[in-house]
Amino acid sequence: MRPPTAPNAVRRAEYRFFDQRPPPSALLDEVIEGLTEEPKRIAPKFFYDERGSRLFEAITRLPEYYLTRTEMGLFDVCLPEVRDRFGEGGCLVEYGAGSTVKIRRLLEELRPGAYLPVDISRCHLERCARTLHADHPHLSVYPMCADMTAPFELPEVVAGLDKLGFYPGSSIGNFEPGDAQAFLRQVAATLGAGSRLLIGVDRKKDIGLLEAAYNDSAGVTAEFNLNILHHLNAALATEIDPAGFRHRAAYNEASGCVQMFLESRKDQSARVDGRIVEFTQGERVHTENSYKYDVGQFAELAKGGGFKVEASWSDADAYFTLFLLQAE
Ligand code: AVJ
Repeated sequence: MRPPTAPNAVRRAEYRFFDQRPPPSALLDEVIEGLTEEPKRIAPKFFYDERGSRLFEAITRLPEYYLTRTEMGLFDVCLPEVRDRFGEGGCLVEYGAGSTVKIRRLLEELRPGAYLPVDISRCHLERCARTLHADHPHLSVYPMCADMTAPFELPEVVAGLDKLGFYPGSSIGNFEPGDAQAFLRQVAATLGAGSRLLIGVDRKKDIGLLEAAYNDSAGVTAEFNLNILHHLNAALATEIDPAGFRHRAAYNEASGCVQMFLESRKDQSARVDGRIVEFTQGERVHTENSYKYDVGQFAELAKGGGFKVEASWSDADAYFTLFLLQAE
């Protein structure tokens, strides 16, 4: 347990941008490494350029994609209880600045003094952060451009404030369980002992429901998956034809995750920086895992990640759970 602290100091609201973004060369090296290994892979963080972020927002509104609306349905009961524990005036640290819909609910109901969104996509981050600052003049907004999968440090300005991390949407499912645990340990270290983390976790459930959520009938998830190639071509020195690939998503029961792939429609080769990468017909490039957890399983994982479960909220169908964790 953390010693009692002074109440969160009142400070004039300000906006400050912090840049810890990795250089493009490091990102290109990572892409090359993934495309020259067998099986080939591209990390899910490369989904989120401007268009990718928009496509993901469209996914969250799809009838088949139950995750977002189920999680937000839990806010009515969850947020007042979080506020009772966390109080007002602290620092809300959002891991991955997605759409601003969820964070607006948190800002209204929790009334933190500072909001610190961490995201790798600089334009998206800045746009969201500036809008929120304009709409909440009494809130200090400190966007931090960083790869949250690598260690980063919180700026000095929020040092005296209580911290509440927010990692919604079951994005934790993108990590392999061991990496998820390492990520949580890193979050615990960044936020500090006694800090809290409100985290959304998608549950194991009927395979038909899981697979439908990643194979929507409107084809938005397919566009989202293929957009990773558009993004690489635009941002880094790759020339991979998105039309040469098709979207695949299926639940892997042994691992407990939905897996997404881009499957090559034909034998083809593509330029990746200086080299040529070959794809055979039917070959799959792995782009994402979305792990699904039972409540007990996730509580164990959190424990190994340096957190204890303070509270949790689930919907009546047991589709999704919000956990309030506390760093030990
Ligand atoms: C943002 C990682 C939670 O895994 O469900 C949605 C991303 N991929 N449809 C998920 C995603 C395909 C999403 N997360």
